[in-house]
Amino acid sequence: MPFVNIKKQYLALGMLIFVLLFFFNSKPAFQCQLNPEVSVYLPTIYGITPTYARLAQKADLTRLSQTLMLVKNFHWIVIEDSDTKTKLVENLLKESTLKYTHLNIKTAKVKHSSASGVEQRNFALDWLRQHMKENEVKRGVVYFMDDDNTYSLKVFDEMRKINKVGVWPVGIVGGMRVEMPLVKDGKVYAYNAVWKPFRPFPIDMAGFAINATLFLDKPSAKFSRKVQSGFQESEILKYFTTKEELEPLAENCTKVYVWHTRTQKPSILNTKKLKHPITPYDENIEV
Ligand SMILES: *[C@@H]1O[C@H](CO)[C@@H](O)[C@H](O)[C@H]1NC(C)=O
Repeated sequence: MPFVNIKKQYLALGMLIFVLLFFFNSKPAFQCQLNPEVSVYLPTIYGITPTYARLAQKADLTRLSQTLMLVKNFHWIVIEDSDTKTKLVENLLKESTLKYTHLNIKTAKVKHSSASGVEQRNFALDWLRQHMKENEVKRGVVYFMDDDNTYSLKVFDEMRKINKVGVWPVGIVGGMRVEMPLVKDGKVYAYNAVWKPFRPFPIDMAGFAINATLFLDKPSAKFSRKVQSGFQESEILKYFTTKEELEPLAENCTKVYVWHTRTQKPSILNTKKLKHPITPYDENIEV
């Protein structure tokens, strides 16, 4: 019966079109897998973020975590400055869909020391070394991230190119529009810093990342409470690199992909004279 045969041919043709459409629709993902940078070498970025309880903490962590959710192969290490892990941070991490490690360590009370995040970052580095020893895949990148900075996704693409230590400009920091390494012929020859320019590495914590495997080669590399303020970056970098060896990224340090933004401390008004007084419910709601 020719009529039936024609119908079968149409059916076959229809199926062929369907298969072709499916193939072309999925082409971007397909191409992506063939891109060697993505499939063959996409090192994990370990973001190390100390955090402490304050009114704007959840707002800051929400903004940051939702940026990080867009970063591939990212592992967030969040360290609370507290004796115990808080529900606020625990729930935020659980709801984030991120790969994360939640730690806590209380800052020791030390006289005449304003350094923040030292114990937290060192605790995270201890964890990281143990994790890397147990993990088969050793390659990765370590980036020290404040919980209220602003990060472009581009900064994460840049740091995956690092061999040892990569550097790039940081916006709105150190009393400057942009603080950055100065680059000539693809090498760092100086820095433009105005604040404490005599620092060995006058760059902000947000302006560099380190190959994670180096932390296994240098088991004693850590931050120190003994250095003056602004010297934490130099303290950790001295273990791994020299000015001459720094790898300038972000188009030879001509682009700003991270900003040292600060969340203003909120001022809360007296609510005693309100017509409808604050209820226990208001006071207990998580902000
Ligand atoms: C950086 O500068 C070097 C030397 O001038 C040049 O060869 C290289 O292509 C530049 N890199 C980028 C990403 O612009």
